[in-house]
Amino acid sequence: MKQSHPKGLYLLFATEMAERFSYYGMRALFTLYMVSALFTTEDAFEIYGTYTGLVYLTPLIGGYIADRYWGNRRSIIAGGLVMALGQFLMFLSACFVQNSIASEGAAIDATINNHLSVMLMFTALGCIILGNGFFKPNISTMVGDLYAPTDKRKDSAFTIFYMGINIGAFIAPLVCGLFEGDFSNPSRFRWGFLIACIAMVISVILFVLLKNKYLVTSDGEPIGLAQSDKPKFQQEQSKPLTRQEKYNICVIFIVALFVIFFWASYEQAGVSLTYFVNQQTDRNILGWEVPTSWFQCLPAIFCVALAPVMAGLWEFLGRRKLKNGKTLEPTSIQKQALGLAFLAIGYLVIAIGVDDIAPGTKVSMMWITSLYFIHELGELSLSPIGLSMVNRLSPKRFASLIMGVWFMSTAISNFLAGHLATLYPDGASEVKSILGFQISTIHDFFLVFVVMSGIASILLFAICPIMKKMLGNQEV
Ligand code: PHE
Repeated sequence: MKQSHPKGLYLLFATEMAERFSYYGMRALFTLYMVSALFTTEDAFEIYGTYTGLVYLTPLIGGYIADRYWGNRRSIIAGGLVMALGQFLMFLSACFVQNSIASEGAAIDATINNHLSVMLMFTALGCIILGNGFFKPNISTMVGDLYAPTDKRKDSAFTIFYMGINIGAFIAPLVCGLFEGDFSNPSRFRWGFLIACIAMVISVILFVLLKNKYLVTSDGEPIGLAQSDKPKFQQEQSKPLTRQEKYNICVIFIVALFVIFFWASYEQAGVSLTYFVNQQTDRNILGWEVPTSWFQCLPAIFCVALAPVMAGLWEFLGRRKLKNGKTLEPTSIQKQALGLAFLAIGYLVIAIGVDDIAPGTKVSMMWITSLYFIHELGELSLSPIGLSMVNRLSPKRFASLIMGVWFMSTAISNFLAGHLATLYPDGASEVKSILGFQISTIHDFFLVFVVMSGIASILLFAICPIMKKMLGNQEV
């Protein structure tokens, strides 16, 4: 990260940080809000799973519309405003909510009594899902477009951008979490949702005010314009794909397929791993019990702290030349495989930690902390580099649509993560199994993820040479 970056990167960094603050702030309260006043725990989990899946499905639509009609800028503004409206409707939902239940989760009557709040909540979710589809792929594409196609700084630009994402994700639960309500006072949640709404509005205002000044290439050309606003010679939407472009898209699709396994394992953080922290981790420090939800901040903290380390590592390896002139730095696709390997190692470490423990015994918090640390090495190896790779390989006229496809793998992962989490052995019900593999202990449960991401990593490493051939002499 020696060379400096264009100012536009920091505008995109701040815009995305505020948007992610809004998204993760609301998400931190969402399940709690639902079970406090509106739904049974089971229904709430289901709604949460569907919501987090759909949020990453709509980028396909947002990417397509941006490439074809609106351009990135207009799509980001429209998406941001719709998301802000969604957060405002969450605020209204919590304003009208009545505390009509006697205990958490006993919400069957509450759903009926709180009809208006439920309607407002679903409309809000629809807005956030739709708005995110227009915001997320387009802001990610713009990061890459600040640079010339072969500019070496793209990976480090996406890593810096990714730090912005995680700073937002880290602060949000701490701030919005201050307004946790409960079944005796569910409308207290409204302040958390209002803060999420304000953050989103700030994000849009920043973007609108500063975009013309900073979102330009090094030659001063504005980026992210609609097709119709570009000079004639830059309009290239209808050109058919060349052979190489088809190969590039094919490579992105293959890698995206593998990435599904990464996020399906990684996203256990919000589901089974949080349950594990709650039930089977000794959270006492000097007689004080650390709240379960605080552990959710760990991945984001590690991510921000490790981002410069990883960027430095790639740069260091990039400078080491082998005899044949190649460098020691892994290719972008190898970094994806490496990310999967880190994930497997993280789960292996925790599987060792919980080996042989009796049901109900609690293990040291060092185990979950180590897992999150190792997983962040994996996330940094995979996610920002993946965004950068997608941007470099996509034909420019389809860049945002293909970014949408990349996010779609996250959507599939979120659905899958929910299903895999149900394999967590709760002791009460019958022994569960997957593909003939019986899961009777938590040790077995964690091994599922070791095997899943381990195999995906090995396979991806193995097919790297084929993909290298498909890419010809392009550097990725
Ligand atoms: N922390 C990442 C983000 O919020 C998670 C993510 C990765 C989401 C990839 C979508 C796709 O951006």
